[in-house]
Amino acid sequence: MARFTLPRDLYHGKGSLEALKNLKGTRAMVCVGGGSMKRFGFLDRVTSYLKEAGMEVEVFEGIEPDPSVDTVMRGAEAMAKFKPDWIVAIGGGSPIDAAKAMWIKYEYPEITFEEMCVVFGIPELRKKARFCAIPSTSGTATEVTAFSVITDYKKGIKYPLADFEITPDVAIVDPDLAETMPKKLVAHTGMDAMTHAIEAYVSTANTEFTDPLAIFAIKMIQNDLVGSYNGDMTKRASMHNAQCLAGMAFSNALLGIVHSMAHKTGAVFEDLGAHIIHGAANAMYLPKVIAFNAKDETAKKRYGVIADYMGLGGANDDEKVANLIAYLRGMNDALNIPQCIKNYGADSYPCAQGFVPEDVFLARLPEIAKNAVADACTGSNPRKINVEEMEKLLKCCYYDTEVDF
Ligand SMILES: NC(=O)c1ccc[n+]([C@@H]2O[C@H](COP(=O)([O-])OP(=O)(O)OC[C@H]3O[C@@H](n4cnc5c(N)ncnc54)[C@H](O)[C@@H]3O)[C@@H](O)[C@H]2O)c1
Ligand SMILES: [Zn+2]
Repeated sequence: MARFTLPRDLYHGKGSLEALKNLKGTRAMVCVGGGSMKRFGFLDRVTSYLKEAGMEVEVFEGIEPDPSVDTVMRGAEAMAKFKPDWIVAIGGGSPIDAAKAMWIKYEYPEITFEEMCVVFGIPELRKKARFCAIPSTSGTATEVTAFSVITDYKKGIKYPLADFEITPDVAIVDPDLAETMPKKLVAHTGMDAMTHAIEAYVSTANTEFTDPLAIFAIKMIQNDLVGSYNGDMTKRASMHNAQCLAGMAFSNALLGIVHSMAHKTGAVFEDLGAHIIHGAANAMYLPKVIAFNAKDETAKKRYGVIADYMGLGGANDDEKVANLIAYLRGMNDALNIPQCIKNYGADSYPCAQGFVPEDVFLARLPEIAKNAVADACTGSNPRKINVEEMEKLLKCCYYDTEVDF
């Protein structure tokens, strides 16, 4: 038996933020990040719509990018005091993911972070509050997914929490919020969405219910991401929907090792003064993983279908896979994303020697490879991988060398 779960309501289109007026409840806790939502006036609109709906409103501000376990615990304490019956999270993947984890801790004050990380082991929620998510970036699709990614900075590892319990009740996908994104954010979140759609399509858990969402999202992202990056606001609005469709697919079909690798490399070089941003990590690793996975016949066929759907040509599946890889690398170039970790600058732009020196990378590689294989996303990857192969694959992602194993 398979399960397909989405939010009960999804409001979309320009101005759909007003749907907040329809929520029925008494107290709403609004969770938000560092300031962009306030600066552009969206936070004020959210609080006034909720007040119009007759609710008392409290704001929990300052959720950082790649939120920490500590932030989750602080937010849950604020919720325990205010006792909301609605949690309304607005912003990028970070504040929404943090709010999801706070929600679990608010409903179950005794639960530990380790217990939250048990995949599909989250206890029944909605005894205290329901959850509304409003994305301001076009990538994570956390507004419709069963996931939340929280970073344990003591270990330098990102942990994906996964359970349909944390699929939001209401999602509001209003393209107005995506218009203020800086270019770099458009590029990174857009390639995150492309990775979600491609990994969902070839995942071992794909179904007839997830395939149409994934393949249509891939086509939309192919058509709209570079234009959105270059300032076309019609394409920006289309990307906001495309990333959400990709999210509906991967929330139900799961992901693969591109994400395992991105989760385990994102924060592990933090001591060198920078992160490898989630979407950029995915964009660099995706072509390498396609080359690795295409050694599996079923996966190769499915990549061939993707290439056909994108109109990339190719006389057989091998050529189609090569064309797909070349096309995705071309998108990275068009979006100013490096092709490998070695060339990943501290500002995320390509440069000759990035912020991760070779010796540091090689010293940490065995641990990273072990953690990546153990990541929750590895189980649904179409080709099995062991720690030794993961080390080789990560090396290809560092040096931008060919995957020939
Ligand atoms: N839950 C999931 O299913 C899922 C899936 C993929 C990734 N993630 C996680 O989500 C996080 C990344 O989220 P993200 O890429 O959305 O970025 P983010 O939430 O970390 O935000 C990045 C920066 O962009 C700013 N910002 C956000 N929206 C803006 C806007 N409209 N205008 C101007 N500035 C804006 C924020 O203030 C922040 O400084 C990572 O931790 C990643 O691991 C979660
Ligand atoms: Zn992602």
